[in-house]
Amino acid sequence: MSEENLKSMADLVAHCKQRGFIFQSSEIYGGLGSCWDMGPLGVELKNNLKATWWKAMTFRDDIDGIDASILMAPMVWKASGHVDNFTDPMVDCKSCKSRFRSDNIDLTAPCPVCKAKDSYTEPRNFNLMFKTQMGPVEDTSALVYLRPETAQGIFVNFPNVQQSMRRKLPFGIAQIGKAFRNEITPGNFIFRTREFEQMEMQYFIKPGTQAEAMEMWKDLRWKWHLNNGLRAEKLQWKKHESLAHYADAAFDIEYEFAHGWGEMEGIHSRTDFDLKQHEEYSKKNLHYTDQMDGNKKYIPFVLETSVGCDRCMLALMSDAYRTEFPGDPEKERTVMKFKPSLAPIKVAVLPLMKKGDMEETATKLLRELQKDYKCEYDTAGSIGKRYRRHDEIGTPACITVDFDTATDNAVTIRDRDTMVQERISLDKVQAYIKEKFSL
Ligand code: GAP
Repeated sequence: MSEENLKSMADLVAHCKQRGFIFQSSEIYGGLGSCWDMGPLGVELKNNLKATWWKAMTFRDDIDGIDASILMAPMVWKASGHVDNFTDPMVDCKSCKSRFRSDNIDLTAPCPVCKAKDSYTEPRNFNLMFKTQMGPVEDTSALVYLRPETAQGIFVNFPNVQQSMRRKLPFGIAQIGKAFRNEITPGNFIFRTREFEQMEMQYFIKPGTQAEAMEMWKDLRWKWHLNNGLRAEKLQWKKHESLAHYADAAFDIEYEFAHGWGEMEGIHSRTDFDLKQHEEYSKKNLHYTDQMDGNKKYIPFVLETSVGCDRCMLALMSDAYRTEFPGDPEKERTVMKFKPSLAPIKVAVLPLMKKGDMEETATKLLRELQKDYKCEYDTAGSIGKRYRRHDEIGTPACITVDFDTATDNAVTIRDRDTMVQERISLDKVQAYIKEKFSL
């Protein structure tokens, strides 16, 4: 049997819409550029991904979670450098009014949209933060920003968490939440959008231990992606050669998306830049007293891991998407080979016929399984068609209640990946399913 990976982003976009993973935002009004809505299956997949990350981060002795607000004091963004430096250089085509990042195009070539020559404006810096007003008065004193990263909510809460949780270095703070960037050139489906979710963790450490912390987190984060089922050959490290002003080392984990290699996660050694800046701007003492080192006072260094939830989800869907060609065109199928614990629907319960005993047994089984798993009850169409649909959304197990169930008290469980069907007695179904999702 031959197998093909995802060929183009367009195939994935179409599949996601057709099967209820992701829809264009405000589609009936023509859509809103680069904004996407998670459909019923997309939100399940995303929630499973977030739960996996949250568990990897906070089910440890040294990391606490928080959920900071999206709107923060405007001074936060002055201190962090975002007001002055979070910009991309932009040009407009004077002829067709298209807008480009000037560092992404050849300014001596014709406009790629309308082909006009010498039509670009002078490059100018464009701040990527979204602005809005807080309160009923619309003037500059009411200006607030939608956060462009979740990290600053962690930095400003460093003393709160350290003191309330009686933390000693090293310890981390983890957070999942929305971030907003007015990207000049969003695109490639949910790879680059203007509203997205980040899963960030700031690990506060003693100055001088950043190389060690970097090694530890590089290793943990790489293994986390592999453990989610991503194929190793689709992942690579990229070392930052030119560093951001706040960093003394930085690495990205890249995934080979349908449009090419792209950053999925950044692991940055951010020094004491952010806490120092907040100390200066807030005039609050953000020093840590190290009781293990003669009560020495210093500003901790920070090792950050920052992964885009949507990008990670795009990688998972791209990786899981396969088309299988067994030789017989009748048996060709598209299958999403998600790791079972991440799959949006865990179990499909399929009564062969929609009647009498079969329906009753199937409903009873469904109610039992629903206590622990997201299940779907499906009676529409032939059993073959139902299997195909569940392959396409990545359901790891399909349970069929058939004519023999009434006599042998057993059901058929079909495995998504091997398509092998096993006869399992009804009282063993729970244990069988539990084992499947135990990893
Ligand atoms: N706090 C550090 C930080 O925000 P970043 O490299 O700008 O670093 C971290 O962003 C991650 O957030 C990226 O690796 C990517 O996965 C995700 N991300 C950034 N911009 C994004 C966008 N416009 N759309 C979707 N995801 C984005």
